[in-house]
Amino acid sequence: MSTAIYLDHSATTPMHPEVREAMLPWLGEAWGNPSSLHRHGRAARHAVDTARDQVAALIGADSREIIFTGSGTEANNLAIHGPRLRGARNRIVTTAVEHHAVLHPARRRAEREGLPLDLLPVDAEGRIAPNALDTAIDENAMLVSAMLVNNETGTLQDGATLAAHCQDVGAIFHSDAVQAAGRIPINVRNLPVSLLSISAHKLQGPKGIGALYVRRGLRLDAQVVGGPQESGRRAGTENVAAIVGFGRACALAAARLDDVARRVSSLRDQLEHEVCAAFPAAIVNGHPLHRAPHILNLSFPGHDGESLMLALDAQGIAVSTGSACTAGSLDPSHVLLAMGLDHAHAQAALRFSLGPDNTEDEVRYVVQTLCAILGRV
Ligand SMILES: Cc1ncc(COP(=O)(O)O)c(C=O)c1O
Repeated sequence: MSTAIYLDHSATTPMHPEVREAMLPWLGEAWGNPSSLHRHGRAARHAVDTARDQVAALIGADSREIIFTGSGTEANNLAIHGPRLRGARNRIVTTAVEHHAVLHPARRRAEREGLPLDLLPVDAEGRIAPNALDTAIDENAMLVSAMLVNNETGTLQDGATLAAHCQDVGAIFHSDAVQAAGRIPINVRNLPVSLLSISAHKLQGPKGIGALYVRRGLRLDAQVVGGPQESGRRAGTENVAAIVGFGRACALAAARLDDVARRVSSLRDQLEHEVCAAFPAAIVNGHPLHRAPHILNLSFPGHDGESLMLALDAQGIAVSTGSACTAGSLDPSHVLLAMGLDHAHAQAALRFSLGPDNTEDEVRYVVQTLCAILGRV
């Protein structure tokens, strides 16, 4: 048994070898600028266009509705800062369990423009309380941002109901689908979102490249201004290698989505059952049914999540205590606190996030190792 076991696929994923292969020419013999009209430029433009088709296909979009950005975070920033105020509508609504890549831009926009900001509460399993929709999302809502899959617990929001409600009241609905894309089916033709963010490195693509889906007809103010790239909505010469890798990663994810989801969720269930059987005090944080295939969040009462994470790391097992962006912070997870956990239980949490290359043997080894650590502490 190799002792290099990676169970932190929510933080990032290893790049798929076919993605690396697809990118390599664009880091070597091919270097054109997609805006150039000569053969080098035309080849680069063709590569970017192909990738745009692949990214669009993963979520059922039209290629013209995809804007490449420098990350999922940048896509969220564009989605939150880009829409213009419309008349008296000025309320920004998001949820208490969003990633900081949504919460911080939402706070910044609200503060800078003096707009009211509402954070929708969630229930104990991390889902937006159904009655919150009618009270907080009304005709004053300008923009509503709610994630499809929570990055810490894997809880799924009811995106269809949220999107339909926003449509009814005329609000723009953005969804941070960074943890969802490539893991659960998404089709923007059936899901009336206006804006949707995705990120390549969560689906075996390269880091530093993301995309924002923008429904046709929605006007957005660019946040990075300069040249006319991305139809004037995100200036800057395209990162061709990363875009090509992103496209290939989306094509691979689309082809394997059902198969990977089945395998990964079965490993997650194995992990959950074996850990809870060996350590009955463990608490599952998140929804038991409405959950993404790849994430398991457990609290181990009486233990400190960070110490457990470091002890597992010493045994070659990579997990996390929550979002990689807040790793090292002494504050307990805002997501778990919003679900009603007390500080002690929130500090006792570990997030396991699985990927297509994990195996049953690895899961067994993780459970044995964790039990040995829990027994020792
Ligand atoms: C839900 C969610 N949104 C946004 C991001 C940020 O994406 P990126 O790392 O591409 O900036 C992450 C990354 O952890 C995430 O999990």
